[in-house]
Amino acid sequence: MFTMLRPLIFRLDAEAAHRATIAALRCTPRRRVPAFAASLASEVAGLRFPSPVGLAAGFDKDAEVPDALLSLGFGFVEVGTLTPRPQDGNPRPRLFRLVEDQAVINRMGFNNRGQGSALERLGKRARRGIVGVNIGANKESADRIADYVAGVGAMAPVADYLTVNISSPNTPGLRDLQAGGELVELLAAVRGARAPGGPPVFLKVAPDLEPGDHDRIVRAASDAAIDALIVANTTISRPRLGSCHAHEAGGLSGAPLAPLALAALRDFRSASGGSVPLIAAGGIATAADAWARIGAGASLIQLYSALVFHGPGLARRIADGLAKRLAERGMSSIADAVGSG
Ligand SMILES: Cc1cc2nc3c(=O)[nH]c(=O)nc-3n(C[C@H](O)[C@H](O)[C@H](O)COP(=O)(O)O)c2cc1C
Repeated sequence: MFTMLRPLIFRLDAEAAHRATIAALRCTPRRRVPAFAASLASEVAGLRFPSPVGLAAGFDKDAEVPDALLSLGFGFVEVGTLTPRPQDGNPRPRLFRLVEDQAVINRMGFNNRGQGSALERLGKRARRGIVGVNIGANKESADRIADYVAGVGAMAPVADYLTVNISSPNTPGLRDLQAGGELVELLAAVRGARAPGGPPVFLKVAPDLEPGDHDRIVRAASDAAIDALIVANTTISRPRLGSCHAHEAGGLSGAPLAPLALAALRDFRSASGGSVPLIAAGGIATAADAWARIGAGASLIQLYSALVFHGPGLARRIADGLAKRLAERGMSSIADAVGSG
């Protein structure tokens, strides 16, 4: 079905196609969350994930369709980024498909309707399936750390986990929060905002880091009791690209990000020695890609861009491919494969 519709979808402007997809998912009749092979289940940060294949943040920014997305075969879905106050994001066009490169460039700029409206929607759901909430800071905020503190307080009651996103390239200066003193200050404030018994907190980092950053970030995250690192967000670098949109400003994701994201994952694995769970994102499009990230130390994986090119059956296909690989190797659990490559 997707193969037939793809040429039509690709004739639409990328953001219009995305809005149409969300609208279609809103109208999809409720289906049961699919069962996964038992070997795919694992416990990470105290949560039981039925499959390690998740949907990355940015697809369902306003938490409109998390349950429809879970029923497509994702083991977990991350909504957001949500900021305390609504904001429009950058002017359009701000989302580009790079078909020849199997890539996407976006400079959305945290367009979202704010945490309040998502809170209401998420509060009404039955909470079957893991839904994480990714939080950020408003562009015009005078105190960005206070925005993260507010996000933790507001969204914890409806989140199975929270992600502190300091790695989007489209809010000027946001990535500076990854730097030494600022990161320590931010993570201490986030730690202080967590209520006892609240959801685990993950930290999402950029792939564009300098040598030494990985050790420093792991140390800061461990000191602040961060439960997992998501490696990584989009890149501001531009590997060789063939598409006419290659020079658009924004974050690059999809296939050309894969080598960079895998290298960053390896750096975080060697910096942490396995002491902090890692969640891999960036250019994952096949079961082989997912398997390689798990072998390199990821406990879970997330994807977004490959969905644009391969359609809604992708999460299921990757999960099946991972289960097959486990069976072929006589492994009974995906946890046995983490860091085995
Ligand atoms: C259109 C678009 C919007 C995104 N928005 C967000 C966002 O709001 N917050 C975030 O943490 N990551 C966001 N991302 C980054 C993805 O979550 C993911 O980290 C990145 O795209 C790499 O994965 P991929 O190559 O599978 O897409 C966005 C990505 C895309 C393509």
